[in-house]
Parts: sequence; structure tokens; C-alpha cells
Amino acid sequence: MRIGVDYYPEHWDKSLWAADADLMQKTGVKLVRLAEFAWCRLEPREGVFTFEWLDEAVNLFAARGIDVVLCTPTSCPPLWLYEKHPDAVMVEKDGTPTRTGIRGHRCINHEAVRFHCQRMIEKMTQHYAENKAVAAWQIDNELEAYFCFCETCNAKFREWLKTKYGTLAALNKAYGNVVWSGEYSSWEQIQPPYGHYPDAWLNPAFMLDYARFASDNVIDFANWQAEIIRKNCPGLPVTTNVWFCGHMPDFYKEFKNLDFISYDNYPTTKLPDNPEECYTHAFHLDMMRGVKRAPFWVMEQLSGGMGCWAPMARMPEPGMIKGYGLQAFAHGADTVVFFRWRTANIGAEMHWHGLIDHSNVPGRRFHEFAELCKAAETLQNVQGADNRADVAILLSFDNEFAFKIQPQTNGYYYLEQLQRLHAAFAALGLNVDIIGQHESLEGYRIVCAPEMYVTDEGVVQRLHDFAAQGGTVILTTRSGVKDEHNNAIMAQLPTVYRDMVGAYATEYAPIGYDSVALHFTDGTKAEGKQWCDVLEAEGAEVMASFDGEFFKGKAAVTRNAYGSGKVYYIATVGNQALYHHLAHGAAEEAGIAVISGLPPQVEITTRTGSGAVTRFIFNNSGREQSFMLDGETLTLAPFEMHITTKEV
Ligand code: GLA
Ligand code: ZN
Repeated sequence: MRIGVDYYPEHWDKSLWAADADLMQKTGVKLVRLAEFAWCRLEPREGVFTFEWLDEAVNLFAARGIDVVLCTPTSCPPLWLYEKHPDAVMVEKDGTPTRTGIRGHRCINHEAVRFHCQRMIEKMTQHYAENKAVAAWQIDNELEAYFCFCETCNAKFREWLKTKYGTLAALNKAYGNVVWSGEYSSWEQIQPPYGHYPDAWLNPAFMLDYARFASDNVIDFANWQAEIIRKNCPGLPVTTNVWFCGHMPDFYKEFKNLDFISYDNYPTTKLPDNPEECYTHAFHLDMMRGVKRAPFWVMEQLSGGMGCWAPMARMPEPGMIKGYGLQAFAHGADTVVFFRWRTANIGAEMHWHGLIDHSNVPGRRFHEFAELCKAAETLQNVQGADNRADVAILLSFDNEFAFKIQPQTNGYYYLEQLQRLHAAFAALGLNVDIIGQHESLEGYRIVCAPEMYVTDEGVVQRLHDFAAQGGTVILTTRSGVKDEHNNAIMAQLPTVYRDMVGAYATEYAPIGYDSVALHFTDGTKAEGKQWCDVLEAEGAEVMASFDGEFFKGKAAVTRNAYGSGKVYYIATVGNQALYHHLAHGAAEEAGIAVISGLPPQVEITTRTGSGAVTRFIFNNSGREQSFMLDGETLTLAPFEMHITTKEV
């Protein structure tokens, strides 16, 4: 396993470089990421390229056996470009051009931006094509599916619609544009969602397509860059680094054509006290592994207290730097790159802490990082190993977009049920895959398909087949609600899933911040909140019923035999107890060996490689925890990771 750091030679006096590289080598750093914001030093004047300083840095690292990841610096074109092309900036929702002065201002579709990006990437990839120290390329930095309202992007949106619908008649029908006399009679009438209305005031079908377009836009930019890189550096892996932001592109589409996924991993430094606050960092790591169903990289890893645009957060507690690094390996990372080597003494991010503080005196966090580097070296057999899972959770970016466009009720957000199901199965010591809804379900025994809101016929068919052939499917409320255009389906809920669920809703109750008690037939108590379907079973067995509200006595959880499999339906958003109870029962019923009685915040994952299974047991809490495992007592310090390897 490999540990790296993010380093900015352009921010530091050259006299520091060699000492930094020496200390990296001595500590066990194997990789350095460079140059994602360095355009103004790589092309200080139009057409004048200056790679000498970067060569010097790359050579310093290479001489010490440290590889580099080079980045295309396209997130920050230099100011001379905007001076020459003032309209190369993104345009905001109200039509105002973005002002330069921070970062990431560029419109990725603007002709001049594309021209200069292409030339920069060509020059850079040609320059480093033969350099053996380059281990991979990163495209841009944290590409977000921003909405840019400039005329170039608007024209691109119209083209996107023409390709998708062909005719205005088809488009008007798909969007239901007759409402509020919104029918287009020419393509030119199509505008992006200008104005500061809440998204929910706009047509949901139009808005879903606009979100899909914004995502496709960024993916197109990434693929375009990948092509240029590959032309000059064939064989080198290409990635881009993602994070969980307000405007996520569809990761499943984004990485189809890229070689591996890399992710910026900043676990919280203050764990919530309330177990109902479903903080599960493991969820994000499992989601990243699931994007390509393969080992991934962390391109930026928590190194110190975070802050800059927000007030400073807590410093990582003792154990967190090493523990969270190992946690990433436990969930499928093969390389973890820390952001950043040293805290910046200049610029807006000087309070986003690196491994070494402003003083340049390595302290507690650095020493822990050094221990992690040593531990990583002992884990070479885990490189490339699989986190084989019996349980999968489906994620859909259509749903992510659509729920943001139309929030269902107070407190409701799409990922909550995914996180709660994940936490419930993970608490049984199981690996859990979070995968795109279009993935094959082969090899799984349980597939959770929460909130299948926007319907995709292929996915519906695959879930039916999976259950019919003996699998277990867990469905939830807000499924089968919308067709593929984000229009409501005219049938009783859960519409396209009704036959497999064996129950239907006669009505529903959005209860927002309120909650309602419920109990399972075996007496286990739980709660529902936010949303309740009022169900009539038609063949399904009622496993839990509501204890209050006007639907008292109606089913809250059902189970139906479908083909040779089972289909569970959760008619509400539960508290964690509901998911724990259901996951335990469903896993046992599906014949999956589980570990019972793990204390909260203890995570067990396994990676299976050639000839060995490595088990990671992590205490993701700030207190010592003792528990029985395989007949022995195991005691783990705060954030301690215990690793065992068994040959198979
Ligand atoms: C992100 C970015 C970095 C930096 C860090 C911390 O992850 O990719 O450039 O801004 O956040 O602020
Ligand atoms: Zn634009």
C-alpha cells in the first residue's frame, strides 16, 4: 500500500525543497501530487511555457525513489487569459459573469478556455511523456457539475436536447410544457433555469434534464482531457479527484472512461454523540470503491484541522491520522495521498492544516503519519485485493438530482436510507458495496434498492429477475414514483414494484420532522419519520406496524415471497433500530454468516487477494473498546486498527 502527499513547490522557497524531499523519503512517502493550480508558473505569459522549476521538483523526488502524480492545471487559468477573454468566466444564475479573484472561474465550454487548456495539456504531457517518475495523471481538480449560464453553455444545452428528443413536440410532451403555457415553439426559446427561484418552482422534468446535462458537460470535459493525455502518455493511468459536493456529476458515468477513481477524504474530526445522527464515514469509502467496483485512491486525505472559508474545526485527535489512513485501505483504497505536506503560510487556505504546521516543526500529527507509512509497508499483500461483498446498495444520480429538485418533506434527503442500510449491514461485520443502479447484480445475495424514485425500466427488470432467481431485495418508500422524465406515474405506489412487494399504498403521509412509533411482530420497537405510506398488503406478510397517526395498525415493513426470493418493503424512513432489526433478519435468512454483538463504531472489513484474506478491525471512536471476537477478547484504543491476515 502506498502513502503520498500533496505538495506545492511553487508555494515554497526553493531552499526548502530538498529538505522536504529528504524528510519524505526518510518517512516512507512514495508519491507526491503536483501542479493542479500552478498554471501561472507553467505559462506565465501567453505561449511561454516554463517547466524548468517543475522538472527540478520532479527530479528531486525521483532521485529519492518518490513517484509523482501530475495534474492538468485547468481549474485555474491565469489572469492573462481572462484579461484577453473577459467572457471566459462562468455566468451565474442571474446572468452576472463570475468575477475572478478566487479559483475555478473558467467556463469549461468557452472556446478560449478549451484552446488554452488543450495547448497546456499537450505541452505538459509531451514534456513529461518519457519521464519515468510520473505514475499517473490527474485531470483538473474536484470537477463539479456547476450550472454555467453563459451563451456557450446555453447553446450546448439546446444541442443536448436536440440529440435527446429530436423534435420540439417530443420535448414538450416529455416535459409536460402545456402547464403554465410553457410549450416551446422554437429551440431558441429554451433557456437555462435563470433566476433565484427555489428549484421546486421550475418544471421538475426540465430541471432533471438540466442536472443531467450539467453532469454530462463536466464528463465531456474530463473525457476530452483524458484523450489528450493518453495520446502523449499512453499507458499511464488517468483519473480526476472527486468529493461530495452540492453539484456532484454522475460518478458512474464520469469514471467509465477513466482508469481509476480518486477521492478527497476528509472524515470529521468531531464524531457526533448521537447515534441517530447517521455519520458513517465508511459509507463514503464504500461508495468510492463501488464506482468502478475496484480498488481506488484517496487523492487528498485529512492531515489536520480543517478551516479557511469556515471557522477552524477541531484538530484530528490522537489516533485519527493513522486510523483514518488505515480505514481507507480497509475499504478498498490502495494509495492514500495526504493533503497536504505542510500547512500553507500564504493564501486563503492557510488554516486548512497539513501534516506539518506553519512553524515547519514536525509534531504529533506528523509522527503519527510516519507510523502510518511504516504500517502501509507491511500491507503490500493487500494491494489490489477485493472487498468481496454479499450485500449491495444501489445508488442513482437521477434520484440524487431529482430529490434535490423536489425535497419530499422536512428533513428528508436521499442518502439517509442508503446510509442507514449501510450502517446496519456493516454493523454485522460485513463488507457492503455501494454500486450504481445500472451495475450487474450477479454474485450478491442481498440488494438494497432504497428510494427508487425516478424509474429506469432496465433497473426495474433487473431487480425483478434478481428476486425471482432467489435473491433478497430491500425496497423502501418513494419507489416507483416518477417515470424516466421525472413525471409522476399514474398507478398506485410503488407502481412498477407493486407485484414484487405484494402490497400497495392507498395514500401517503409526509410527516416531516414528526415521528411515529412502530413495532415488529416479535415486539422489537422502532420509529418512522418524515414519510409513511399507508399500505394494503396483497400477499405480503406484515412484519411491523405503525402505532400512531391516522394509519395506526397499518404495515410499516412487509416481506413478500417473489419467485424463489424475498422482497422487503420499508414504508417509512426509520430510525436506526428499524434497519438493524431488518438487516439482521434478512442476512440470516439469506444464509450470510454475520458477527453479532459488535459494539457501535467498530468496523470490520475484509480484503481478499491472491492467497490471503486480510481482516481490518477498526475502532472508529474516541474511547477504548473491548469486545469478544472469535472467542477472544479484543481491546482497541481510540481509532486503533487491528489487522490480521489468513492464508487461503
Ligand atoms: C479540496 C481541494 C483542495 C483544497 C482542499 C482543502 O479538497 O481539492 O484544493 O482546497 O479542499 O481546502
Ligand atoms: Zn459557460
